Amino acid sequence: MNIREAIKARHSVRQFKALPIGESEAERLKAVIEECNKESGLNIQLVQNDPDCFNTFLAHYGRFRNADNYIALVGSSSLADLDERAGYYGERIVLEAQMLGLNTCWVAGTYGKGKCRADKNAGEKIVCVIAIGYGENEGKPHRSRSLEKLCAVKKEDMPVWFKNGMLAAVLAPTAVNQQRFFIDIDGENAVITAGRAPMSRIDLGIVRYNFEAASGHRCISK
Ligand SMILES: Cc1cc2nc3c(=O)[nH]c(=O)nc-3n(C[C@H](O)[C@H](O)[C@H](O)COP(=O)(O)O)c2cc1C
Repeated sequence: MNIREAIKARHSVRQFKALPIGESEAERLKAVIEECNKESGLNIQLVQNDPDCFNTFLAHYGRFRNADNYIALVGSSSLADLDERAGYYGERIVLEAQMLGLNTCWVAGTYGKGKCRADKNAGEKIVCVIAIGYGENEGKPHRSRSLEKLCAVKKEDMPVWFKNGMLAAVLAPTAVNQQRFFIDIDGENAVITAGRAPMSRIDLGIVRYNFEAASGHRCISK
């Protein structure tokens, strides 16, 4: 599975098999996380075999099952773009997980915030977590807002790279599937802005990563 196939195949999965993450998959995930941390200055961590974090009323209400493994997106509160950075690098890890045969779900609300086992250094906070494991199912495609609402360029005027990027942007996970972003073209790059909505800066980072991975062109945030 290549990255474009992973973008298409990824859907939120909330029910997992009661299986630990395989050793080689966990090693690969940790290596990618280390690369992401080096590049971003974040302190992203893989937490395995922790049945407590998703053992809360909200998590059960959100139909999470066997969510015993998760990735905690941790970083310094002093970073002005912390949410966007967490989104961008988190999505890189999510797509790597998909290529390794794992399933994921971004979670900012329905987990036990006080129970998260990730380590925090002074001045750091947990932006959100990503549940990860072997899904009981593969999830299902989300409904999408129309392209005109998400993009300034008409379909017939899009260069191929931009069209590939937009297709991947539309498939990106966003909080409550809100898709509050808008993408334009500026020469050889795309430019993205976020609407005013809770968590839209995390979404912005996620969408940027999808766009860049599928198009091979930069997607710059405003
Ligand atoms: C930043 C962010 C936060 C999210 N928080 C939650 C959450 O607290 N609980 C939950 O069940 N899903 C959560 N989701 C998953 C979204 O509901 C899901 O990504 C969206 O409905 C699109 O569906 P898809 O991921 O299957 O494409 C979150 C997604 C994102 C990107």
